[in-house]
Amino acid sequence: MVTVVLEGRGDLTEWREAARSLLLAHTTPQTVDWRCRNESAGDLFEPAVEALEGPIAGAGAAPTFAVPKVFLSLAQAVICHRDPARFQLLYRVLFRLQAERTLLEVLSDADVAQLHAMEKSVRRDCHKMTAFVRFKEIDTERGHARRRFLAWFEPDHHIVARTAPFFQRRFTDMDWIIATPKGTAAWDGGALTVSAEPAENPMLTDATDALWRTYFSNIFNPARLKVKMMMTEMPKKYWKNLPEAALIPGLIAGAEASVVAMAERAASEAPLFHQRLQAAAQAEPEIARPPAGTLEELREEARHCTRCALHCSATQTVFGEGPQDASIMIVGEQPGDQEDLAGRPFVGPAGAVFNAVSQEAGLERQSTYVTNAVKHFKYEPRGKRRIHQKPNIGEVQHCKWWLTRELALIKPKLVVAMGSTALMALTDSRQRLADLRGQMLQLGGGQSLLVTVHPAYLLRIQDEARRHEEMARFRSDMARAADFGRKTPVDISREQRTVRSG
Ligand code: URA
Repeated sequence: MVTVVLEGRGDLTEWREAARSLLLAHTTPQTVDWRCRNESAGDLFEPAVEALEGPIAGAGAAPTFAVPKVFLSLAQAVICHRDPARFQLLYRVLFRLQAERTLLEVLSDADVAQLHAMEKSVRRDCHKMTAFVRFKEIDTERGHARRRFLAWFEPDHHIVARTAPFFQRRFTDMDWIIATPKGTAAWDGGALTVSAEPAENPMLTDATDALWRTYFSNIFNPARLKVKMMMTEMPKKYWKNLPEAALIPGLIAGAEASVVAMAERAASEAPLFHQRLQAAAQAEPEIARPPAGTLEELREEARHCTRCALHCSATQTVFGEGPQDASIMIVGEQPGDQEDLAGRPFVGPAGAVFNAVSQEAGLERQSTYVTNAVKHFKYEPRGKRRIHQKPNIGEVQHCKWWLTRELALIKPKLVVAMGSTALMALTDSRQRLADLRGQMLQLGGGQSLLVTVHPAYLLRIQDEARRHEEMARFRSDMARAADFGRKTPVDISREQRTVRSG
C-alpha cells in the first residue's frame, strides 16, 4: 500500500505530480491511500514524499501521459471539492483512461458520473461566491491611496484560488481581501495573493449593509415570488453572511398583502397617468398636416415609422422623391450612408452612377419617382464607419407597407426594380435576378416591371472590361425604361396584348 499525503487546497499540481509517479510505476488505484493533511488530523500521517518513496522509486524521469483535455478540465474543478475521496476518484479515472480512452464519454459509468457531480457542485459554489461576497470598507480614516475592503465568505469547497481571478478582474481598482475558512485571497492592485490558511470571521458591518437591504427590498417583486426558486438561488446556508437576507422572511410573509396593495394602487393611479397624457396632448400646438391621401401626407407618416427595428439606428426615414404623376418609378434597395444623412434617396456613389447613366439614356430624374424597398439605412458600425448590411426578408416585408402605398398614389406606367431586394419587394418572389434581368414583366396592379441590376453592383465590379459591358447593359435597360415612359397607354396595351399572344 502506498500512502500519499497532500495539502489538498484545490491545487491540481501536487495531485498531478503524485499521480504521474504512481501511474509510471503502474500502481493500481486500490493500492493507493490518498490522504489530505488539512482535512484530517495531519500529524497522524506520513508526509507525501516519504510515503511515495517505496514503490515509485525507479519510475523514470520526465514522465508524460496523454490525457483527454476534458479530464484535465474536470480534474481542475474536482480537485477543489471538499470530499477527501476526490484524490482517489481522480486517480482511479486517470488509471482507467490509460486502457479505456473513451471512458469519459460513458456518462452512466459510476466514476464518471461522480466526477461530473463533484464538478457541478464546485461550479455552483464558485458561482455563489461571485454572487454573495459582500465587501466592507476598512481603514477609511487612514488616507490610503486606494480604498480597502474586506469580505468574509464561507464556501463549501476549496474554491478561493479558483474564484479569486474573477474578483481581481471585477474589482481591480480597489484593494481587497476575501477571507474564508478555506483560505484567503488578496489583491493590492499589483499582485493577487492566495493563501490556504483558514481565516476567522472578522464580523464586520458597515453602511453598505443598509444599502444592500434597500436594494434588495426594492428589487423584490412580491407578485413574482416563487419561494422554492428563491431558496435555490439564495440557499439558506449563505444567509448568515448576507446583510439583506434578514429581510427575506418578512418579505415572503408580507408578499400576498403587498400584491393586493399594489393592485389597489395601480387602479387608482391609472386615471391620473391618463389625465396627464391627455393634458399634454391638448397642450401640443396643432401641426399643419398635409392634405389627406397625398404623397406628402404619406411621407410625413413615414417619418415616424417604427414598423421594424431599423429605425432605431438610422438617422431618419429616407422616403421616395419625385412628382406624384411620374410615369416611371425606380425602386432601389435601401438608403446608404450618405442618403441616411441627407434624407434623400440615391445621392451617394450609387446615386451618382444611377443619375449619370439614366440621364445619358434619356431618363430625366426630375420627372421620375425614385424610392427604395426599405426606407431606413441598415448598417453595422465598424470603427468610425457604417458598413452597409443587406436588409432581411422580414425588414423588406415590413417596409413593403410603404412601397405599396407609394405605388397606389403614383400609379406609374413602369416600375424599374434595381437589384434583387427591389425585385423581391415588388414581386414577393425569390427568383434569381439574372433570370429576369432585362425582361418586361407585369405586376399584380397592372403596371409594367423592368428588372435590372443595382448601380452599386456596377461599382463593385473589379474587371474593367466586364464593368464596361455591364454598364452598357444597364444603360440599355435605362434607355428601354425611358422609351417606355414616352409611350401612350394605347401603345402599352397593344404591346402587352402582343406579348401575351406571342
Ligand atoms: N442604394 C439604394 O438602393 N438606394 C439608395 O438610396 C442609395 C443606394
